[in-house]
Amino acid sequence: MKLNYGMVGGGPGSFIGAAHRRSINLDGEAKLVAGTFSRSHEKTLATGRELGLKADRLYKDYREMAVAEGQREDGIDFVVVVTPNVSHYEICKAFLQQGIHVSCDKPLAVSTAQAEELVRLAREKDLLFLVTYTYRGHVTAKHAAEIIARGDIGRVRTVMAEYPQGWLAHEGEDGGKQGAWRSDPLQSGDANCLGDLGTHVENFVAGMTGLKIKRVLAKMDVVVPGRVLDDNDFVMVEYEGGATGMYWTSQIAIGHDNSLRVRIYGDGGSIQWFQEEPEKITVIKKDGALTEHHRGYPTIAPEAASYARLPSGHPEGWFEAMANLYGSFIKCLKAKKQGSFREEMIDFPTVEEGAEGLRFVEACLRSARGGNVWVEMK
Ligand SMILES: NC(=O)c1ccc[n+]([C@@H]2O[C@H](COP(=O)([O-])OP(=O)(O)OC[C@H]3O[C@@H](n4cnc5c(N)ncnc54)[C@H](O)[C@@H]3O)[C@@H](O)[C@H]2O)c1
Repeated sequence: MKLNYGMVGGGPGSFIGAAHRRSINLDGEAKLVAGTFSRSHEKTLATGRELGLKADRLYKDYREMAVAEGQREDGIDFVVVVTPNVSHYEICKAFLQQGIHVSCDKPLAVSTAQAEELVRLAREKDLLFLVTYTYRGHVTAKHAAEIIARGDIGRVRTVMAEYPQGWLAHEGEDGGKQGAWRSDPLQSGDANCLGDLGTHVENFVAGMTGLKIKRVLAKMDVVVPGRVLDDNDFVMVEYEGGATGMYWTSQIAIGHDNSLRVRIYGDGGSIQWFQEEPEKITVIKKDGALTEHHRGYPTIAPEAASYARLPSGHPEGWFEAMANLYGSFIKCLKAKKQGSFREEMIDFPTVEEGAEGLRFVEACLRSARGGNVWVEMK
């Protein structure tokens, strides 16, 4: 049984929409049948034609699409929301209200209040909601989470995590359309870099360690002249239970592309994971023994290994990570249709995790605005 899905965003010249379509296509478990790919209807029609969609399922706006698809006998099973951050809330809400499951890219919304409303709606309507924190889908990231949970590095004491990029090092250069909306408060919300990259870091560390942030101390800097939103951030973190962490996110770090790098230190060892080399993790035990765990080998924990598509040495990467999130999401949706769904089947970042990302961003904003003081996560 193939599911049908629709997309909002992902029009001509955009980035992530096409990447979602390609990732979903990897397993062929769902088919794109409807869309509002742009605010311009002409562009939606052009993209729809290119993708071979029927004209009656190409909509003028997301509201029309949500209502029409909600009423059709053969309406979409889920919608993929891949527009700039400021519109996520209204778009997701429109589809949830029509009883349609949602996949939305991160950050989930631009405020905690919006995010919590989406959590409430999804629960009330009993709908599944994937937030596509892509890196969580890597087999090695899943493996790291499994071996930390089973105690391989002991109790986690401290975390160093960074996500530096260099593409917005200079105002007006290189950022193009994507850079323009990210640094515009009207389209991005109150945070740029921390919303864009900090939410990835927060979610990735939470997914890998299971740690919950208790309080933060943030320094959110605007480095490039003429910008109003942050482009370089440091966050000190204290987790419940006393472990500590340090996060750095940047868009002005020349020489870095998508350098999400995480080091987790426990009382029995440590783990290092680097997203630009996602086929391995490094584990160092207390006695100094250093091992690399490579995807495709029997060292990889069974649950994580079940997501691999290729034998070792044929590299898997970003598309596969995204496809793994959709793999679990679509499996759960199919089970829901068949009446066999159980909560324990969920192996993807949820709307609750999306809301935690917004709580993190808002706590950092309160901390930075208050003069870099410790602030409790609420
Ligand atoms: N998971 C990841 O690693 C990752 C990576 C990049 C971007 N993102 C997220 O994906 C989202 C989109 O980012 P992008 O870089 O693709 O942006 P983009 O500017 O390249 O594309 C946005 C698209 O949305 C369309 N759009 C805007 N408003 C619309 C509306 N109301 N109705 C229909 N279409 C509309 C635009 O025409 C465009 O086609 C952002 O929230 C971003 O944070 C996530």
